[in-house]
Amino acid sequence: MMVEGMEIRALAPADAEISRDLIVWASVAWGSELTDEQIEQRAKRLADGIASAAPDKVAFLVARRAGVFVGQCRVFQDKNESSQWWLSGLVVDPAYRRQRVATALVAACIDYARNKGASAVRSETDVENLASIRLHEGVGFENLGQFTDDDGDEKVALQLILRDHR
Ligand SMILES: CC(C)(COP(=O)(O)OP(=O)(O)OC[C@H]1O[C@@H](n2cnc3c(N)ncnc32)[C@H](O)[C@@H]1OP(=O)(O)O)[C@@H](O)C(=O)NCCC(=O)NCCS
Repeated sequence: MMVEGMEIRALAPADAEISRDLIVWASVAWGSELTDEQIEQRAKRLADGIASAAPDKVAFLVARRAGVFVGQCRVFQDKNESSQWWLSGLVVDPAYRRQRVATALVAACIDYARNKGASAVRSETDVENLASIRLHEGVGFENLGQFTDDDGDEKVALQLILRDHR
């Protein structure tokens, strides 16, 4: 089932004022409890990030329905390889899961990167996160296999080659 009336858009500097609401929503969606101090710190960091972000290098996409946040995902250019882009921070409100919100968000991130000249989009997820792995595979990512990241966590590397990039 698609989410009816869903809007996906990249945040712009004028959206800095919603950063606190977004941080509060995201912490609930991730199932993590934040202190008031952590919320204020993260909201400020997000507002600063939105205000200073270079649209050629990064976009923070938010999905909303009737004005309510239902999902978010960030897409950004690799610091060393300019044709490689990355997904991060993908999360969907638990009440809206299995309704293709993440599929639509990731597709929008891929379109964004493609429009900026990306030749590939990469992502990583925890090995036990089958929902995320299947979601990525469903939108065309290739599973490149398991690795241990710098924090010692077991991850899966995923990559989507954009064959029709400019
Ligand atoms: C992973 C996550 C983003 C998926 O969001 P979603 O909007 O529910 O995903 P979609 O509805 O677009 O799912 C598309 C496909 O992915 C797979 N999938 C999604 N959730 C799944 C689950 N819980 N179990 C198995 N497969 C799943 C299915 O193949 C699904 O297609 P189907 O519903 O026709 O079977 C969501 O579960 C979430 O926010 N999880 C917590 C945060 C997280 O793990 N983020 C990813 C970090 S890399």
